[in-house]
Amino acid sequence: MKIAMIGTGYVGLVSGVCFSDFGHDVVCVDKNPDKIEMLERGEVPIYEPGLEQLMATNVAAGRLSFSTDLASAVDGADAVFIAVGTPTRRGDGHADLTYVMAAAEEIARAITGYAVVVTKSTVPLGTNRQVKQAISKANPDADFDVASNPEFLREGAAIDDFMRPDRVVVGVQNDRAADVMQEIYRPLYLREFPIMITDLESAEMIKYAANAFLATKITFINEIAALCERTGADVKMVSKGMGLDGRIGNKFLHAGPGYGGSCFPKDTKALARIGQEHGLPMQITETVIKVNDELRRRMIEKVMDLLDGAAAGKTIAVLGVTFKPNTDDMREAPSLTIVPALIGAGAKVRVVDPQGQHEGKDLLPGVHWFEDAYKAAQNADALVILTEWNEFRALDLKRLAKRMTSPALADLRNIYSPRDARRAGFTRYVSVGRADHFNDG
Ligand SMILES: NC(=O)c1ccc[n+]([C@@H]2O[C@H](COP(=O)([O-])OP(=O)(O)OC[C@H]3O[C@@H](n4cnc5c(N)ncnc54)[C@H](O)[C@@H]3O)[C@@H](O)[C@H]2O)c1
Repeated sequence: MKIAMIGTGYVGLVSGVCFSDFGHDVVCVDKNPDKIEMLERGEVPIYEPGLEQLMATNVAAGRLSFSTDLASAVDGADAVFIAVGTPTRRGDGHADLTYVMAAAEEIARAITGYAVVVTKSTVPLGTNRQVKQAISKANPDADFDVASNPEFLREGAAIDDFMRPDRVVVGVQNDRAADVMQEIYRPLYLREFPIMITDLESAEMIKYAANAFLATKITFINEIAALCERTGADVKMVSKGMGLDGRIGNKFLHAGPGYGGSCFPKDTKALARIGQEHGLPMQITETVIKVNDELRRRMIEKVMDLLDGAAAGKTIAVLGVTFKPNTDDMREAPSLTIVPALIGAGAKVRVVDPQGQHEGKDLLPGVHWFEDAYKAAQNADALVILTEWNEFRALDLKRLAKRMTSPALADLRNIYSPRDARRAGFTRYVSVGRADHFNDG
């Protein structure tokens, strides 16, 4: 199959590379010429484990190329995927469809033979029908169908998620489009990964419902964590005990500083908006958004408490600023509210992150970037763990505590136990969802 992938961000690039690895001919298009130049040089503009290698293999095999020229990529393609951003629209929380609709119009002008125009971007109910209308209006002769194919990959594990998905969801209006989509995903079908064919609206809804559900699960355990702190329960034990119940499962039950990232915040807001537009407020999702926002404030209070409420002039070393490990993505990361609040309170903030500096240098003005945790901890007053990168999971706490002016630890990912912290020489400690915080003065 000949595929054009429009948008080479986290989703488009991974999808394009993986489709070429399936054996399809793929052209990845982006309107950002810097990205395309980098890709043509064999460099990957984002950090995603394994992507550079897989990309190089498929470029070398002649199945994968990059271009800014959408028209030539679409010319003769069996399927054209739209994988552009759908950020939150300013003001009303709705998904901003500007990029999707702009891409649809460009595609309309470039379609030559029959093609399926597939929306991979996360889009509200009815968008695929809108795309269809827009293409037909811009090019009444275009021979095409639309399909909705929401993506479920997780940044940091994107290739494995794409190659070994829990399921592939494809919304179509007829068999012709379904056949093309099944041919594209045939390598997965042969390996018995479920491919679910639905109508357009159900496919669009599955994506929002799945993300809102996962955001709800995280937020639920975060709220339980707050109650654990008040009551003496340990949220790690609680989530383990809950997760062992097969009806609940242990995933997305880790208490922390609240969900962030490129999807959950915007997709929960968009779902809430869709509900309001249909006169059916999504009350659970609206509450989840509110509770998650409040949680961010509680995290700031936690760190401030560790400093006895006075951050002015204190030096704080923050470990991890990306929204989760194994990505360079900073969109809606908890660090973007917590770090500025600490700086606003007069603290000097040092940051260590294996991949966050490139994106983070503009997003976190005023911080000092350090290469490793031990250097950042030198003469610091507090250490705050915000993202659980592997290299922060086995820190030599004793070595860290020794070099700090006042050894205080805020472990907002619950990596270390209060016992570990005390034994290592920390005199102050907070985590999430455990009552045994200490402040030995
Ligand atoms: N990031 C994730 O983990 C993830 C997971 C599942 C679904 N999604 C969804 O996938 C979509 C894309 O997300 P992303 O994180 O990859 O976005 P992104 O911002 O990383 O990438 C979007 C790319 O599209 C390009 N673009 C925009 N308009 C274009 C046009 N007309 N022609 C060519 N290129 C164009 C941009 O330059 C950019 O490179 C969103 O709807 C998102 O909700 C994202």
